[in-house]
Amino acid sequence: MWPDRRIIDLFKTEFPIVLAPMAGAMDAELVIAVAQGGALGSLPCALLPAEKAREQINIIRQRVTAPVNMNFFCHTPVEADAAREAGWKARLSTYYKEHGIDSAAPINAANRAPFDAAMCEVVEELKPEIVSFHFGLPDPALLRRVKAAGAIVMSSATIVKEAIWLEENGADVIIAQGAEAGGHRGMFLTDNIAEQPGTFALVPQVVDAVKLPVIAAGGIADGRGIAAAFALGAAGVQIGTAYLRCPESKVSAPARVALAQAKDDTTVITNVMTGRPARGVGNRVMREVGPISPDAPAFPHAATALAPLKAAAEKLGKVDFTNLWAGQAVRMGREMPAAELTRALAGAALARMSKLAG
Ligand SMILES: Cc1cc2nc3c(=O)[nH]c(=O)nc-3n(C[C@H](O)[C@H](O)[C@H](O)COP(=O)(O)O)c2cc1C
Repeated sequence: MWPDRRIIDLFKTEFPIVLAPMAGAMDAELVIAVAQGGALGSLPCALLPAEKAREQINIIRQRVTAPVNMNFFCHTPVEADAAREAGWKARLSTYYKEHGIDSAAPINAANRAPFDAAMCEVVEELKPEIVSFHFGLPDPALLRRVKAAGAIVMSSATIVKEAIWLEENGADVIIAQGAEAGGHRGMFLTDNIAEQPGTFALVPQVVDAVKLPVIAAGGIADGRGIAAAFALGAAGVQIGTAYLRCPESKVSAPARVALAQAKDDTTVITNVMTGRPARGVGNRVMREVGPISPDAPAFPHAATALAPLKAAAEKLGKVDFTNLWAGQAVRMGREMPAAELTRALAGAALARMSKLAG
């Protein structure tokens, strides 16, 4: 028996496990597989135009009756700054030369649009049971519309202050994202990555500070981690990295190799890939230019000048300029179908908890 049933009762899933939304690494296929395994599937919509998000949800709805989570970024957009972009391109110029790329050729701007009225209409139309946000919450009028459409709203907090802010501003569930987590730090009331607490320290402090149910995220990859999250007072877990090597993910073949070879000390927090701090497997540009560079333009504009390099290197089978977002438990990821992995995670957690109780 799960020691805390609040998330199961709220989401109406078999297990209190949420597949983390992982933009760029997955689509409907992984959501469906995880839902079939008894957890909540999350569709990352941050990189999708509204039409594509609609299409993906329709695919999910045709295949499973389970609840679904649509996930969006809600950062405050910053206009591209021509001088900073030029400086960044100059910083990367040796790589352009090495790959024979004309640095004067126009590049499509990196697109990571925040949640807006067009996406809100998609939510109103498709009525996902859950909507989650990263980087805070959208403006109150949009949030009211999401909630009026019947969605339970979740968002990530990386420090206690953010958790309290989310509770006061309309979230229904808090995701406590520890520093171990893969992908972008959901931080929105601080920009100091050196001060970001790990999951073990963050979860109980968030649980003590808010009344809402708390989902633990970051570094959880097996039954021991799930049991520990419940021991710390979490009512559920959100797991990303552990699912990356499932056959249903959209991780490329060379990136799968990098993930399979990763160890406990392979990931770092970097700002060079997008302009915002995120944790991933170290690659060449992160090592040589970062991992933190003051030259990186603001999110998401750092990604613009990297795009032609990423494409050229990937043609050579290299991930030198590719985002390999993953958390510190990357080595514990398993190559197995996602439904099976979900049931294995839940079973191992329940076994661990009953052993601890007995
Ligand atoms: C490849 C990857 C992409 C991610 N993309 C998103 C995203 O689009 N939206 C989001 O809210 N969180 C994203 N995250 C962060 C997750 O929500 C979550 O905090 C994290 O996966 C939990 O830590 P773990 O990776 O150690 O399980 C991403 C994580 C990874 C590994």
